[in-house]
Amino acid sequence: MSAPAVKSLKPEIALKRAWGPARLHPLPLRIMHWINAAAIVIMIGSGWRIYNDDVLFGWLQFPDVLVIGKWAQYGLQWHFFGMWIFVLNGIAYLGYGIATGRFRRKLFPIRLREIFATVGDALRFRLTHEDLAVYNAVQKILYLGVILVGILIVITGLCLWKPVQFSELASLFGGFQIIRLIHFLCMSAIVAFIVVHVTLALVVPQSFVAMITGGPNVNGGPALVAEPARVAAPTPVAEPTRPAAPTPDSSPSDSSQ
Ligand code: HEM
Repeated sequence: MSAPAVKSLKPEIALKRAWGPARLHPLPLRIMHWINAAAIVIMIGSGWRIYNDDVLFGWLQFPDVLVIGKWAQYGLQWHFFGMWIFVLNGIAYLGYGIATGRFRRKLFPIRLREIFATVGDALRFRLTHEDLAVYNAVQKILYLGVILVGILIVITGLCLWKPVQFSELASLFGGFQIIRLIHFLCMSAIVAFIVVHVTLALVVPQSFVAMITGGPNVNGGPALVAEPARVAAPTPVAEPTRPAAPTPDSSPSDSSQ
């Protein structure tokens, strides 16, 4: 005999139940975010070590306390180590953002009017981040921008690492020194992003805490867990409108919808 009591859940409900209530920053996203932050520190510190050995600008040397690796060769090894983490984690983050629709929901659309309004608020020191679930236009641009710069820095890095194997790609950029310059400018953009990003995270500490704990439940997380109980619950609204006289066929278990 079949068991009619065991009903199959709708796929989206089953999925959400398996993952638990939806959080502002779901666990996979938080893990990838912090792995990325660690990888970036390794990449930048070791990159500065490699740069110091053959500088692009005579006036710029990074202080020894900020670099990773005692010599350029060690710096290079650290750089490759960080590179694998950054690239594999980055692919996972991009795949997750696209597959779950997070990028579409959180980073789009970006409206020109919204950009002007946000920049205006920022200039008048009126920028707030009261609703953590919504990124303002400037945040959307910064996040999308750093994702694109992250992709470009990997591509130029590959051209610097394997100039022969990636010669076709390298020829798109021009010479080796131009690729080095673009790689350096991408690094500078990421460093500038981190300065602004970390400052904002500290100015709005609840956003920082949410990136660690996951933040509040969103998208009806708890409601989804309680959903079957709500469906089965009696509807007391109908009670006062019942006729006063008892009818022989009335039944308390009549909960049809
Ligand atoms: C230790 C340094 C870092 C801290 C303290 C930090 C903190 C945060 C916080 C608090 C948020 C949530 C923002 C919000 O709710 O408004 C966030 C999101 C984000 N961070 Fe960071 N972050 C750091 C490093 C980085 C780095 C190095 C990158 C990339 C280069 C990065 C890229 C992002 C992106 C793309 C998001 C949006 C994620 C999404 O919603 O999909 N972060 N970060």
